[in-house]
Parts: sequence; structure tokens; C-alpha cells
Amino acid sequence: MTALTVSTIHVASLPADCIVIGTAKGPKGPVLTPGAEAVAAAFDGGLTDLLCALGVTGAEGEAVKLPAPAGIKARLVLAVGLGDAADENDGYDAEALRRAAGVAARTMSGAGTVALALPVGTAEAVEAVALGGLLGAYAFTAYRTTPDAAAPVRKLVIPTSRHGRADAEDAVRRSGVLGQELNRARDLVNMPANDLHPESFADAVVTAGREYGPAVEVIDEKALAAGSFGGILGVGQGSARPPRLVRIAHTHPEATVSLAFVGKGITYDSGGISLKPVGANEIMKRDMSGAAAVCAAVLAAARLGLRVNVTGWLALAENMPSGSAVRPGDVLRMYGGRTVEVLNTDAEGRLVLADALVRAGEERPDAIVDVATLTAAMRFGLGNHLFGVMSNDDAFRDRVLAAAGLVGERAWPMPLPAELRPSLNSRVADLANYGERMGGGLVAGLFLREFVPAGTPWAHLDIAGPAFHEGAPYGYTPQGGTGCAVRTLVRLAADTAAGGHDVS
Ligand code: BES
Ligand code: MN
Ligand code: ZN
Repeated sequence: MTALTVSTIHVASLPADCIVIGTAKGPKGPVLTPGAEAVAAAFDGGLTDLLCALGVTGAEGEAVKLPAPAGIKARLVLAVGLGDAADENDGYDAEALRRAAGVAARTMSGAGTVALALPVGTAEAVEAVALGGLLGAYAFTAYRTTPDAAAPVRKLVIPTSRHGRADAEDAVRRSGVLGQELNRARDLVNMPANDLHPESFADAVVTAGREYGPAVEVIDEKALAAGSFGGILGVGQGSARPPRLVRIAHTHPEATVSLAFVGKGITYDSGGISLKPVGANEIMKRDMSGAAAVCAAVLAAARLGLRVNVTGWLALAENMPSGSAVRPGDVLRMYGGRTVEVLNTDAEGRLVLADALVRAGEERPDAIVDVATLTAAMRFGLGNHLFGVMSNDDAFRDRVLAAAGLVGERAWPMPLPAELRPSLNSRVADLANYGERMGGGLVAGLFLREFVPAGTPWAHLDIAGPAFHEGAPYGYTPQGGTGCAVRTLVRLAADTAAGGHDVS
């Protein structure tokens, strides 16, 4: 794992393999960003011209390596672009810093020590650079048996002034926790379903809980049967790997507010008897991304000591077709007693979430957020970079969206139109799990809403698009699991802790 530290050593004498400096698009060409002074001085004022000659413009995503000049201890200089130049007082936007640090860490994979001499005038900027660096350094190497050139940078150093040191160390500590937990979520998503199934996922949560404090309770298939969790059991009954419901709770002695996070944890979604076609089924190990995000967010809340109670509920099952699988037309008796006719076994996420929402609601949290790779429809609507946010409470929805905006996650409000609700009426049961196809993401949200206790603010995050990145890496986003929603959940918990009682 990549180590992260601050250093008050002058940039010219830092014992690093590479010094990273920032460039930006100025009105008359590329400019160097604050932090680059020592490197610029060693180039005798010729650095900007040299970068121009090399084609540098300062655009986001640019990364150009130069041999370091005499006077700089490191051997390499890496210039990364931050986009439009900030005016002197404003400083650089946190997301631009995260992305530039991510590009730097990714470009330097395989290196030993990399110093990030980026514009970090404030603790917030240090936090952004540290997080972007840690997230960009991520690589999923668990299944490589050959020496891997893509091994993450071993150490990232953020140069800081002596008087800013304490704040910078604090910022780096926070980002270290968040970055590690977010990378844990990515690991869980990237892990193939032959190794990550409900039981091994639950075991991993137990181990992490022991290490970092939150209490973990695993409700196994026997306990699920004893408790009449018909949704989770119904989805899991076709698999040789039995389902689990995991409760992971961070409690703070002075907390006055409690949040419940509920995650969809389908470790593999074949579609079940309503089988998915080739092209749609090989990507479905990602279908536990919501549970991974919830698990990571609760662990981060615990490690950061947030003054709020946060309980995570991970609804874990494998959706498989077999002789014991749930059939289209079967009726499930859900936790809490309501009945659902399963018209399409591929609409399984809402079935496991329904049980978990009802169970989470029994503890009377002040608000509930569920996170799920729930519908292909949400990907058609919002694409792969934004997640949709649906809610029974506009003010709470706006708080979730604000939290996402502050941490650099892309989210968008989606409605729950009453007109679509009748399509979920069943001919035989209280509800059907499949309704109108048009607006399928909203129909799924309407289904979930039925299982939220009346009066509890609730938000549903459909992360089907951004949970997994199939294209080339960019910024601090790798290929594969992205850790989507972890930062939004942690920020929401932190804001709740800071704001006392007022949840919505
Ligand atoms: N896990 C899928 C949704 C999904 C698709 C997530 C692609 C990530 C990428 C979900 O269980 C599913 O199959 N949803 C169906 C619902 C339909 C049958 C009502 C869908 O969206 O097609
Ligand atoms: Mn499905
Ligand atoms: Zn699914």
C-alpha cells in the first residue's frame, strides 16, 4: 500500500525519485503553479519555455517527464496539468488538485518515492492532493503472478512549510483513512465472484471490524430463515453460496444523530432464471458495489471518529439460475411480512434491499441512504459518470447532492413519479418486483420507497453507471471498481456529525 507523508525539507533537497510540479493554462500559454518555485529556479528561469517546446499547455490530464536539472536531488521532474489557471487568491479547485495528483501517481507507478509539489496553500488543498495521490496510486494486483510494472508508487510525499506542518499532517491523516477505505471498496468490487461471495465478503467485514472498531454482526442463512428474510433468501436460494445480511455499526459515545446506510451486495448477478445474455453477464461481479461502498464508508467513519452513529447493512446474495432458484411468478414473503411477486428474477437488487431497508428502519435511524447498482435504465439516463439520487424528502436529497458535489462525485436528482407506481401492482401479491419498463430506474426507486418507514428521510443512490469504469484510467479513476459513493457517504456522515440534530 502506498505510504503518505508530509515533509518540511526544501523541495530541491528532497530525497525522492521524482518531483511533481503543476502547470496550468494561462492567458498567454502554460504557467507554473505555486509549489514549482524551487524546480523553476533550478532551471534558471527557462522551465516554462522548455515545457512549451515540449507541447505542454497546462490542460488537465497532461503529464510530461523531464530530467531534473543540477541542484535538484531527485532525478526526474513530472509536470502535470491542472486546467485553467486559478487567480491568485482563489487557489485551485479541490477536484483539479485530486485529479492532477492522481495522474501523477498513476504516471509514476513502479517508482519508489514521489514528491507532490503542487499548489497546497490550505489544509483543504493538502487533503485533496493526498487523496488524489492515494487514489491514483491504486492498482489491483491480487491476481497477477508475474512481476507487475504497474505496482503502485511506494511513497508519496507532500512538501509543506514548517508552520503549516501540523495542519498538513492532519489533512494527510484524514485522506489516508479515506483513501485506504475507498481503495478497499475498489478491491472488493474488483475481486472475482469465485472468491468474493456472500460468506467471504461477510468474513472480510468481520476482519475489518476487528481491526478498526465497528461492531459487526453476520446474519447467516439459518438466521435469515429464522428471521423470515424472504427477499434475501429468495434471491440467494439458487446459488450454492448462501446469502448473508451483515450489520456493521460505528457508534460514537457523544452522537446525537444516527444514519443507516444500506448496500446492494449481489456478489454475482447472472439474472437468475430470467438469465442475462452474453455481453451483460460477464460484467456482473460489480453488482455488490453498493455494499462495498457502505462497508468502506462505515469503516472510514469509525477510523475518523465521526461524532455520529452510522450503521451499515450489507445485503449479500448471489443471483444464480438452478433447480432451487426462485422462478418468475413465485411469491416471496419479505422481512416484515409483505408479499412480492417475482415477475423478473433479474430485478433482484430491490428484493434484497427491501429486506435490509425494513430491518434498518426498525432501529429508527434519523435518515436512511441506500446505495445500489440497481438498473441499466439509470445508465441509459445519466451515463457512466453520474449516479442518480431519488428521495422521499427533497431537503434530504439536496443534502446528499451537496455532499457529493463537495467531494467531487457527480450526482443528479431523479424524480419518483406517482404515475409509475401502479405498474408495480401485482395480480396476486402486495407488490410485483417488475413494472413499467420506461423510466425503469425510477420504478425501482418507487419499489424501494415502499419499504422505508413513513416519516424517515431516505435517499436512494443508483450507482449502476459510475460504480465501475471500463475505459482507460483518467485522473484518480482506475479501470474497474471506482469506489463510487464512498466519499459522498462519508461526507454526509461528517456533515451530520458537525450539524447536530438536523438531518434534513
Ligand atoms: N445489476 C443489474 C443492473 C445493472 C446493469 C448494474 C448494468 C450495472 C450494470 C440489475 O440487477 C438488473 O438486472 N436490473 C434490471 C432490472 C429490470 C429487470 C427491471 C435492468 O436494469 O435491466
Ligand atoms: Mn439483476
Ligand atoms: Zn443486479
